[in-house]
Amino acid sequence: MRELALSAPSGSSRIMLGESIDNLKSYCQGAGRIVAITDRNVARLYGSRLKGMDVIEMEAGEANKTTRTVEMIYQKLLDLEADRTSVIVGVGGGIVCDITGFVASTYMRGLPFGFAPTTLLAQVDASVGGKNGVNFKGYKNIIGVIRQPSFCLCDFDTLKTLPDGEMRCGFAEAVKHAAIGDAQLFSYLEGNWKKAFSLQRTAIEKVVHDSLLVKMRIVSADESEKGERMMLNFGHTIGHAIEKTTGMPHGEAISIGMIAAAELSVSKCNLPKKDAERLGALLKGIGLPTRLDAGGDRDRVLDAIRKDKKRHGEGVRMALLEGIGRARIARVELGEMEAVVNDMC
Ligand SMILES: NC(=O)c1ccc[n+]([C@@H]2O[C@H](COP(=O)([O-])OP(=O)(O)OC[C@H]3O[C@@H](n4cnc5c(N)ncnc54)[C@H](O)[C@@H]3O)[C@@H](O)[C@H]2O)c1
Ligand SMILES: [Zn+2]
Repeated sequence: MRELALSAPSGSSRIMLGESIDNLKSYCQGAGRIVAITDRNVARLYGSRLKGMDVIEMEAGEANKTTRTVEMIYQKLLDLEADRTSVIVGVGGGIVCDITGFVASTYMRGLPFGFAPTTLLAQVDASVGGKNGVNFKGYKNIIGVIRQPSFCLCDFDTLKTLPDGEMRCGFAEAVKHAAIGDAQLFSYLEGNWKKAFSLQRTAIEKVVHDSLLVKMRIVSADESEKGERMMLNFGHTIGHAIEKTTGMPHGEAISIGMIAAAELSVSKCNLPKKDAERLGALLKGIGLPTRLDAGGDRDRVLDAIRKDKKRHGEGVRMALLEGIGRARIARVELGEMEAVVNDMC
């Protein structure tokens, strides 16, 4: 097992890599009641291992990451008489983690909480960094708080039951972290992603560990996203627009978003063309999409970009690459984005 420590203004987290969910309870020491929040799929697979905890189940899926589910959970917490001596643990993917962090940060003005992420995406990304939020009226993550979980326990064995498509989506975020902050991890992924995909122990541990280091470095420097944290949005400006309009899974949409951002990086940040090609080849090799279908509804994607909440005037501030492992924020005009989205179809 390896341990990492994150320290940020809103709190600090212990991150355990390679720990078993059977030991989850020992990280909630001193707690009165331990309440696990999970979704139906994860409950079916791992519910029996949450011994000594009360379990609240939500429906799976992004459509349930809403204030309605939050209300349902508040009610169950009241029924269980959860109070300030309780600890809340989210056991599941990014959706469960996001909703758990939000509920735990607001119920009784905040209870201690932790996560046991069970998807690769949640292990390399969603469970670390302190952003906890839910969707409202179709706006993604529009209601939320920043607060660090006290612990995060990554059990790689839980990834054995994760469908390949979900694994790929997790890899998209790992590639993102490598592209913006760790050239060595990028090369490692090029040579070894298959070993990590098949959960060979040292490989999956390295990918999660090194990915998290990139994210943690950025979050510690800029928790509230005033500047540097925007780097973590690499691929996400165009990616979110694709996700919203095509319904493509998040990781797949940001794979295309990263390719688009890399193209913009070639023209705006002198990213060597061969580096953009390496990014495309790695994502493609992993089995992630790198282009929009002709039927990908270019106009609706462009419309969604225009409505993006980070829009400033005619331009958008975006994370672009200067090289593999080096990113910066640049202003991109809508016309430039339109050109690149046209190229992606
Ligand atoms: N807070 C952040 O910083 C942050 C960062 C990235 C993404 N996110 C959020 O994360 C969410 C996506 O997370 P996700 O991709 O983990 O999706 P998810 O939580 O929907 O999980 C994907 C699917 O896998 C199932 N599942 C989970 N663990 C499993 C396992 N071990 N075996 C089999 N099936 C399993 C789930 O039930 C679900 O159906 C989005 O809502 C996104 O906004 C948040
Ligand atoms: Zn993402």
